[in-house]
Amino acid sequence: MTFKIRTIEEKDIMETYEVIRNAFWDVYTPGCDEHYMVQQIRKVPEYIPELELVALDKDKIVGHVIFVKTVILTDQGKELEVISLGPIGVLPGYQRLGIGGQLIKTAIKRAQAAKFRTILLYGDPEIYRRKGFVPAETYGIRTADNVYMPACQIYPLENITKEEFAGKYFEHPCYQIDEQAAQEFDRQFSPRISRTGLASQRRFNKLIQEIRPFKG
Ligand SMILES: CC(C)(COP(=O)(O)OP(=O)(O)OC[C@H]1O[C@@H](n2cnc3c(N)ncnc32)[C@H](O)[C@@H]1OP(=O)(O)O)[C@@H](O)C(=O)NCCC(=O)NCCS
Repeated sequence: MTFKIRTIEEKDIMETYEVIRNAFWDVYTPGCDEHYMVQQIRKVPEYIPELELVALDKDKIVGHVIFVKTVILTDQGKELEVISLGPIGVLPGYQRLGIGGQLIKTAIKRAQAAKFRTILLYGDPEIYRRKGFVPAETYGIRTADNVYMPACQIYPLENITKEEFAGKYFEHPCYQIDEQAAQEFDRQFSPRISRTGLASQRRFNKLIQEIRPFKG
């Protein structure tokens, strides 16, 4: 199935919050903050408007992805610009039809044309492996806390080397969420019950605890 993919437009702003909220609700935590995260990303200078994409089924937005620039501080003491993917969300009724994959593929082509060098993200390897991502560890890339994390994954946009890219990946601070502000933001949307103890939430908790020390 093919869906139209295009750059975000001003009129899509509210609808994309709904899409992300519905995609993420209860999946990783009870409720979700990712729609608020999208709002925070849009405010920072490192936000990349040309890589913010929506997928459409006729006029309805059914998928959305956003990117922000950040850096790897390399072991050689250099700051390399990289881009972070996420959040990405597809409406529950439209998942596993290839829409997420199409959003990522389109963004990759555009990011390559814009000469960005690599994409990084934190996410479930089950989801991203099939989209061509590999563990960031492959290139010696650790978290800002200097540990390897299987959830931290990379998609090089050109031939990059471990020698050049090994170092610490600093996620942009816009991904750090003020819980109270996120709850306040959520009040403008329809109230929803949130559930605890779901299998996807347990999987996420396990995933974020999976770290391996870096023995440099
Ligand atoms: C993750 C997400 C964006 C993927 O988009 P999508 O359109 O559903 O994915 P696609 O149809 O392009 O790709 C499907 C493949 O991706 C992987 N995949 C997608 N969702 C997955 C999930 N929840 N768990 C495991 N693998 C998943 C599988 O390999 C799947 O192939 P399969 O259906 O043959 O098993 C979408 O499912 C979503 O919005 N999920 C909820 C929010 C979320 O988890 N976002 C990502 C946060 S890191």
